[in-house]
Amino acid sequence: MSVPKIELRIERHGFRLRDREGEEFVAISGVAIDVPAGQFLTIVGPSGCGKTTLLEILAGLAQPTSGSVRIDGQEVRGPSLSRGIVFQQYALLPWRTALANVEFSLEAAGGLSRRERREKALAVLELVGLKGFEDRFPHELSGGMKQRVAIARSLVYEPDILLMDEPFGALDAQTRELLQEELFTLWQRTRTTVVFITHSIDEAIYLGQRVAVMTSRPGRIKALVDVDLPRGDAEADIRSHPDFARYRHEIWDLLRGEVARARTALPPAPTAGGAAQTPRVHATL
Ligand SMILES: Nc1ncnc2c1ncn2[C@@H]1O[C@H](COP(=O)(O)OP(=O)(O)OP(=O)(O)O)[C@@H](O)[C@H]1O
Ligand SMILES: [Mg+2]
Repeated sequence: MSVPKIELRIERHGFRLRDREGEEFVAISGVAIDVPAGQFLTIVGPSGCGKTTLLEILAGLAQPTSGSVRIDGQEVRGPSLSRGIVFQQYALLPWRTALANVEFSLEAAGGLSRRERREKALAVLELVGLKGFEDRFPHELSGGMKQRVAIARSLVYEPDILLMDEPFGALDAQTRELLQEELFTLWQRTRTTVVFITHSIDEAIYLGQRVAVMTSRPGRIKALVDVDLPRGDAEADIRSHPDFARYRHEIWDLLRGEVARARTALPPAPTAGGAAQTPRVHATL
């Protein structure tokens, strides 16, 4: 499995959409992100700032009106199985078992025998901790289990890039922490390039090597925070480490005004210059 680098450039008047009245508006403006091969990037930003739209652009499901996405130098022009996507809604097929849901992805992709599909699906379900639950239907699975099936379904293609849009948003707090830990372990093993959107600052710090903070609409990247936490001791809860608390404060400081602006629908702060400029914030610890 190759590990690619992502380069995303969206210019100042970058990605436009039409509202219900047919008026054009800028959904995302001025985004420049380079995701080095194998990095886990998390993105936080106020509701409606364009995070899902950004992920759709990375997935090739939407085309930026000005700007481009390149993966290893190749421009993204449409969706590809080399980019696995996990959305907040599990979107499982209710009439198929967990195993059959994962197999379905491979059926759609084609090229494998029935036996190969089964073997791959069983292996990936085991990887996400669902051994023994293969024959359950979605309504017989908890929310956390359903989300594991959804993750298994994107992993089964062995994607080079994993794009995740608030995949744990609908889960209870304990299941969410457990799945964060599992995803982090999985990433440590595979070193897949991951772009992960979340509303949770803690989740962003726990998972991300780098956290991108977005402004309110039209979304820009306000800051990039490199996270460097001592990850060596598997038993220690990194969330209670003093550095973790410092990152939480720093990111919340960056985000607070944007969340307030998004809630009161004030126009976004003016930006200087034309092209995307992203300040890089290095936490001083
Ligand atoms: N297909 C569409 N047509 C028109 N407007 C849209 C469309 N999709 C999104 N929008 C608008 O574009 C803006 C960005 O939406 P987006 O869903 O990307 O935000 P978001 O940051 O993911 O929000 P949330 O945190 O609530 O998920 C929002 O104001 C939304 O209303
Ligand atoms: Mg969204």
